[in-house]
Amino acid sequence: MCGIVGYIGEKQAYPILIKGLQRLEYRGYDSAGVALLDGGMKLYKRKGKVSELSAYVSDKDTSGTVGIGHTRWATHGVPNDINAHPHSSPSKELVLIHNGIIENYATIKEGLLNRGYQFLSDTDTEVLVFLIEDILKKENCSLEEAVRLALNEVIGAYAIVVMSKNDPKKLVAAKKGSPLVIGIGEDEYFVASDATPIIEHTKNVVYLEDEEFAVIEPGKKLSIRTIKNAEITPYIQELQMELENLEKGGYEHFMLKEINEQPRSIRDSLRGRMDPSTGQIKMAGIDEFEKKFLNAERIIIVGCGTSWHAGLVGEYLIEELARIPVEVEYASEFRYRNPIINENDIVIAISQSGETADTLAAIKLAKSKGATIFGICNVVGSTIARETHAGAYTHAGPEIGVASTKAFTAQVSVLSLIALTLGHKNGTLSESRYRQLLEELDTVPDKVEEVLKTNPQVKGISQLFKDVRNFLYLGRGFNFPVALEGALKLKEISYIHAEGYPAAEMKHGPIALIDEEMPVVVIANKNTSYEKIVSNIQEVKARGGKIIAIITDGDKEVTKLADYTISIPAIDEALSPMITVVPLQLLSYHIAVMRGANVDQPRNLAKSVTVE
Ligand code: M6R
Repeated sequence: MCGIVGYIGEKQAYPILIKGLQRLEYRGYDSAGVALLDGGMKLYKRKGKVSELSAYVSDKDTSGTVGIGHTRWATHGVPNDINAHPHSSPSKELVLIHNGIIENYATIKEGLLNRGYQFLSDTDTEVLVFLIEDILKKENCSLEEAVRLALNEVIGAYAIVVMSKNDPKKLVAAKKGSPLVIGIGEDEYFVASDATPIIEHTKNVVYLEDEEFAVIEPGKKLSIRTIKNAEITPYIQELQMELENLEKGGYEHFMLKEINEQPRSIRDSLRGRMDPSTGQIKMAGIDEFEKKFLNAERIIIVGCGTSWHAGLVGEYLIEELARIPVEVEYASEFRYRNPIINENDIVIAISQSGETADTLAAIKLAKSKGATIFGICNVVGSTIARETHAGAYTHAGPEIGVASTKAFTAQVSVLSLIALTLGHKNGTLSESRYRQLLEELDTVPDKVEEVLKTNPQVKGISQLFKDVRNFLYLGRGFNFPVALEGALKLKEISYIHAEGYPAAEMKHGPIALIDEEMPVVVIANKNTSYEKIVSNIQEVKARGGKIIAIITDGDKEVTKLADYTISIPAIDEALSPMITVVPLQLLSYHIAVMRGANVDQPRNLAKSVTVE
């Protein structure tokens, strides 16, 4: 994790850096720092959020047209001023910012300690800047050559930017495993973990590939080489992102904005891909690998967190509609458990950010065994999107809130299209059911719009339960993954313990937890397990539990049983997760706000988990 940003040109660097860090704060926010060059080197670092850094720096000298900045998510060393980046070399002539983990830092550190170096911090990053300076002095070489030689000694992941007092017209940036993008302006360059700090300055960007480093000098062409010293021609791309999508647009939090954007984001995920009037679905990535998909012995879906939950919905969808066996795996388990994979397997990797380290490693493993990899990513041009053989973007637009909301519904929407296409093409889905589902899919954005109108009611329910210590979420079939997702949303932003369970599993253990103190959220919309879920509700009621039920409009039976109900429009159960999840997102949002939690930046978390 961590966000890094750099600027070199003719403008004052500090305002660009601080704004960039605010944009990147979703990547980590336990400490932040900037270094500026203006003849001398100025270094300001602070534990806490970027706002604390800017308050601290407000009366300091921030002049300089070259600078780098960092917002941290701690891996090695607690969050404090000393462990914050940038880190300086022993002579203080070099400073470095880093996103990633230097896995062999202990060995390198030992060698440097033996040679008399003394370290200030507990970080792996400080070891790297010491190593670069050590090489610089020993080899008497250029800064970029010292960086290159150092990176050849490093095992692990890094996106780094190095700045030198003795080379004030140059930044050196490199990447492996963690993302890095360079913005090309007029006589100026920007460097950042993603394009969000760059977009308002230039749309022309170059994404560095693994083991590449760039020498960035204003007025000169961007020079890129691999760390083995092969020259690379920079591939300049135009950013498609719009600035207003990165702002809160009048909402108090990004999460609330993103929940409310779902009618639009789901529509965008479907746009141009299906036409209910002709019964056509067009997905280039699927069409290209149609034979592979239809002949696949099985599909393996990998992802983490919310993306893994979307994968579970995908399993239900693909098995139900296309009758192709699906396995859903946590990417972090898959990558280390020596899975059996062959050339007939299709691996679908789901990731909002497209940067999640475990998902990326899972892809690489499956690819090395000959599987075809299909990506479902939100961030255009992200590493996972580039590592896959084919894929479909979710087109949900930038998701800034750490809690994933609109990305989930867009992922499920894309998975629905895939399941429908495969089912239609391999004949497992009747024409009439296919057509009916296509038509219903088209109505999902409007139905989400309807559900959003329950917001005041959900807020009222939140008020009643904001102080409880535990929550249970129950769902069955397509809505079991939604129960997991509802529980994840609540715990990650409100810090209330919550568990999601398949409703029928309750009697095998969790039922012991139920008493008058335990709110149980039940997804009880009308579907094939409706009668069974009604029985599960009765089991909870018999033990004094409080039921908050998500019901289909007009359902009198559950209304009588439940303590509180939230109604949603009727929808085919295969498509219902995109609808049922919305009140659960709102519930977690309001509870978190009422508890005074930082909704967009929950403690200990980061938006994109680029470390193992
Ligand atoms: O960017 P990704 O979709 O790969 O991220 C996966 C998880 O880290 C992410 O979904 C995480 O669980 C969210 N905080 C959930 O809201």
